Amino acid sequence: MNQPVKVGDKIKLTIDSVANSADAVGKYDNFIVFVPFAVPGDEVEVMITEVRKNFSRGNILTVLKPSPFRVEPACKVFGECGGCHRQAVDYTKQLEYKHKIVVNAFKKFPGVKVNKVTAAKEPYYYRNKTQFPADMKQKKLGLYALRSHFVVDVEACPLVSREINNIYAEIRAYLVKIKYNVPTLRHVVIRVTETSGAAVVIFVLKNEDFTKIHEVSSFLRYKFPKLSVLYNINPEDSNIIMGDKHFVYAGDGRLAEKIDKIEYGFSAISFFQTNTSQAKTIFKKIKAWVSGSFEKTALDLFCGVGAISLYIASEFKEVVGVEEMGQAVLDAMQNAKNNGILNCEFLNGRSETMLVKLMKQGFKPSTIILDPPRKGCEQELLNLIAKCAPETVIYLSCDVMTLARDLENLTGHGYKIEEVVPYDMFPMTYHIETLVKLTKRAEALKVEKINA
Ligand SMILES: C[S@@+](CC[C@H](N)C(=O)[O-])C[C@H]1O[C@@H](n2cnc3c(N)ncnc32)[C@H](O)[C@@H]1O
Repeated sequence: MNQPVKVGDKIKLTIDSVANSADAVGKYDNFIVFVPFAVPGDEVEVMITEVRKNFSRGNILTVLKPSPFRVEPACKVFGECGGCHRQAVDYTKQLEYKHKIVVNAFKKFPGVKVNKVTAAKEPYYYRNKTQFPADMKQKKLGLYALRSHFVVDVEACPLVSREINNIYAEIRAYLVKIKYNVPTLRHVVIRVTETSGAAVVIFVLKNEDFTKIHEVSSFLRYKFPKLSVLYNINPEDSNIIMGDKHFVYAGDGRLAEKIDKIEYGFSAISFFQTNTSQAKTIFKKIKAWVSGSFEKTALDLFCGVGAISLYIASEFKEVVGVEEMGQAVLDAMQNAKNNGILNCEFLNGRSETMLVKLMKQGFKPSTIILDPPRKGCEQELLNLIAKCAPETVIYLSCDVMTLARDLENLTGHGYKIEEVVPYDMFPMTYHIETLVKLTKRAEALKVEKINA
């Protein structure tokens, strides 16, 4: 294909849609141009920044005619900062675009209907955890620019909770006061909780020279006497934020959250759902799907601190959770104890290896729950699940492309997609959380019985 544009060209185009990324999409002479932060319906002047065989990328120079769905972003560094992508889009439209992306990803499953996206109750101030990169040489604390490690100086972020913004503002103010003289500082991680008020700050440092950071921590504890302050050491220059070594400056480094009746305690390094309110809505849906399975057992793979296992335990005879992070498993066990839940067991290991072990022991769950990281499940794990043949598989995913890939495997093994429910867990971004219920087809169950 002859590309009609080259880097540096200034072109005019109309934006047609959004991609499953930070970008919106327009066409110039039938050639795709990805434009971040644009709104479908916008007429824009764009500067081309990259040209590939089948597509190009460009940045907005001017919005010539705004889309009717364009709204004023709440944040003054929107578009400069890469932390979110759709603040300029009317919220109802954001949900419609997300729905379309899930529908497209599910086109390979003819006849499967995708429910409307469940909106967030609060599309702003919803994150309970955020990692702010620091650039001490450039005297900046903020968030990365899109697809870059350039730190954009950010005063406050309307996506993160107000508590995080309060703590962040004090850290920033102190750094300004001492002229950003903390050469070892790389990241500031802040986690807060809605129901207990517990909060943790983790300063990620290049090395164990604590002289300067102690000063910041001491000020922070003076401002927030109950705050836990931890240091994490990460000497590596990589995309992984935290290293393996931790030090406690103050506090117990613990967080606590309550979802309905279940109280969760967890360490500052364990995973917990980032949008607590939407997590509750999702957990409720899962519980409704499995309700009354009192004679049956469930297996919760990628269980973290036991969030889903404990929430649905009342519906099963037994729930087994599997998690590879040792600390999260300890948290899950403690959570079961603290909530007086006696029918949950938590195992430390990789889902792939633990399922083999459990199957060898004759464990036969009627429901398997999957909530893997963005990259989805290993195909080997999905093949094992098919062999294990639970009646129901519930898959919670934060990446609809890896989800669709994994569902191809399960449907290929005789599972039927019953319901697809997208949730807006991360408003103002392109990210979509999708919950899917699958059941084993009757014919597949029959074949299994004959083979048994
Ligand atoms: C998206 S989180 C889900 C946690 C939990 N379901 C919840 O709702 O809080 C994914 C979890 O899987 C864990 N994990 C990642 N790879 C794993 C693997 N191969 N086997 C078991 N756990 C894994 C991570 O440590 C993390 O706790």
